[in-house]
Amino acid sequence: MTGQLITLEGGEGVGKTTNLAFIERYFDDRGIPLLKTREPGGTPLGENIRELLLQGDAMDLKAELLLVFAARAQHVAAVIRPALSVGTWVLSDRFTDASYAYQGGGRGLSLEMIETLERWVQDMLQPDLTLLLDLPVETGMARAKDRGRPDRFESEQLDFFERVRAAYVGRAKAYPQRFRRIDASQALETVQAQIKSHLDAFLERQG
Ligand SMILES: Nc1ncnc2c1ncn2[C@@H]1O[C@H](COP(=O)(O)OP(=O)(O)OP(=O)(O)O)[C@@H](O)[C@H]1O
Ligand SMILES: [Mg+2]
Repeated sequence: MTGQLITLEGGEGVGKTTNLAFIERYFDDRGIPLLKTREPGGTPLGENIRELLLQGDAMDLKAELLLVFAARAQHVAAVIRPALSVGTWVLSDRFTDASYAYQGGGRGLSLEMIETLERWVQDMLQPDLTLLLDLPVETGMARAKDRGRPDRFESEQLDFFERVRAAYVGRAKAYPQRFRRIDASQALETVQAQIKSHLDAFLERQG
């Protein structure tokens, strides 16, 4: 059996990284080999690109989009496809839905261009399951704010993050087959109980 690609999405401070560890344990307990990774990043080249994306310097929006997809091309070719092909499951802290949300919704770049890059870089590769942690923007920002100097995205204004959130929710509605939206304003244990039930149902479907 080839591995499955699971992605964790959502805006700033919704709890992606916190729940990544929970999901990793879930698969570990069931003896399913899982590779945990993140975007932008996941490879040495990708992590260097991540640094460029997050540092404070002004950046042309098209340059930003191309850097995100450059990192993703390396990630898909060097990490994700090789893992899936040997039956390892992949769990990524963000993937292409984040480009639609941040560069599409947030920055207002053309969705057609994002689709073109997606097809070019990924061919038919799509996540098998996407967990969207959804939360009012102010709550996420309050949770994320104790982390020192804000990066280039964290420095954006509220309306930017409102557009990011709306784009994520729109994608969840457009692709109900693979998306599961979770109310991330709930207590962590409630969020994790819901993640667990989605994973149980997903595993059930794999047979
Ligand atoms: N359900 C929850 N209730 C309260 N606090 C939470 C919950 N989930 C996560 N947190 C806390 O919120 C903060 C941000 O969580 P985390 O870093 O996992 O978010 P993130 O989505 O990875 O953020 P970023 O987008 O900035 O990477 C952490 O301090 C975490 O402990
Ligand atoms: Mg995180």
